[in-house]
Amino acid sequence: MVRSNHKNSRGLWNTRLGFILAASGSAVGLGNIWKFPYIVGQNGGGAFVLIYILCTIAIGLPIMLAEFTIGRKTSLNPVGAFQSLKSGTHWVKIGYMGVLAGFFILSFYAVVGGWTLAYVVKAFTHTISNFSSPKEAGQFFGSFISNTWEVLVYQALFMGICVGIVLRGIQGGIERACKILMPTLVIILILLMFRALTLPGAMAGVEFYLKPDFSKVGPQTILIALGQAFFSLSLGMGCMLTYGSYLPERENLASATVYVVIFDTMIALLVGMVIFPAVFAMGLQPTEGPSLVFSVLPTVFVSIPFGNLVSIIFFALLAIAAITSGISLLEVVVAYFIDQRKWSRKKAVLITSTIIFSFGVPSGLSFGVLSDVKVFDMTFFDHVDNFASNYLLPLGGMLTAIFVGWIWGTKSAEEEIEKNEAKFRWRNTWGFLIRYITPIAVFLVFCAKFF
Ligand code: PHE
Repeated sequence: MVRSNHKNSRGLWNTRLGFILAASGSAVGLGNIWKFPYIVGQNGGGAFVLIYILCTIAIGLPIMLAEFTIGRKTSLNPVGAFQSLKSGTHWVKIGYMGVLAGFFILSFYAVVGGWTLAYVVKAFTHTISNFSSPKEAGQFFGSFISNTWEVLVYQALFMGICVGIVLRGIQGGIERACKILMPTLVIILILLMFRALTLPGAMAGVEFYLKPDFSKVGPQTILIALGQAFFSLSLGMGCMLTYGSYLPERENLASATVYVVIFDTMIALLVGMVIFPAVFAMGLQPTEGPSLVFSVLPTVFVSIPFGNLVSIIFFALLAIAAITSGISLLEVVVAYFIDQRKWSRKKAVLITSTIIFSFGVPSGLSFGVLSDVKVFDMTFFDHVDNFASNYLLPLGGMLTAIFVGWIWGTKSAEEEIEKNEAKFRWRNTWGFLIRYITPIAVFLVFCAKFF
């Protein structure tokens, strides 16, 4: 059921570029800039990068097109979308799972997003510009994330910024913000890359990053790469479905998908080209883990000319990327209440964001006063992250692929994709991937979490 009046009253993307930038804004986030480099570092470098690219093309790309297609066909939120295609069936639960995943992910995403905002401020005030060693920077980071009030204030600030943008709705808020923020991000990254590549000793980092060494690759490596592709492309929770629901019919879905996937992958690869040359030039270890960006980079910045300026730029960039992902997470939850519960945008944004923030408080405190409160050796933060990222996303992605491939049917999907005589040259490949390869591959990732 497509209602054109309904579609216009919900708001639409203004331009094709606006949509592609907004979807890329959702995809590019802490996943690319904070998580990707440390996972590459821990999993042996070049070989992992190669597997990640393969997963992105063979699994991420088809699922993203599937989500865009369902979204534009129904112009609804994830719950309404599955309802309108197969009402009264269990498939509607995929939609509820998506809204729930958005709720959970944003609750802890705002914590890390808050850290990035704090580091922008700390870079400005020269608080993080005097470290003599990565160890010192790591200790500083550790004491910062255990400071209750500081963490909560920045977490609230991060939520507040997302609220401010999502309140303005589709064209005024999300699209306009991304149109300015995304290109800025690319320019800053390219500048940083040149800076990193010209450091003495940088080439060892380039080699680690680009030269595949398959001796370190096991089944687990492939599973981690696949999971990262999911998280990084914002798939499996109806996020891209929701963004697709604001797309006018004249757009070519297949080519928009290719642009977004290339953009997201390019950014991750570019970040690697900044971080690894820098890390190796400093004589540091690439296996540092989640603290890599926060504790190692400030040390790197100290040692280079205009280091403080570079650190301000870098953390601003990280915060910008986190915000454009945060607004997409919030929009999934908000769109559900606007469409299904008939709430006004304002009411939906204010109420859901308050609840999400409140639920996120124990996550924010998981590195401080609640760090010893552990169930199965995991903090509250770990549990929410693990449940949403490792269970809800893969399950949602696999079910979406099965739904499009077998239930709604690739024929109906292809009709929507090829509307207005849009070109879709890789139609048969997509059909094969979405019916067979994608569900089976994601099923394997999911099994690996259980066994
Ligand atoms: N893709 C985002 C990132 O890389 C995270 C995200 C996941 C956003 C799921 C929306 C939905 O940080």
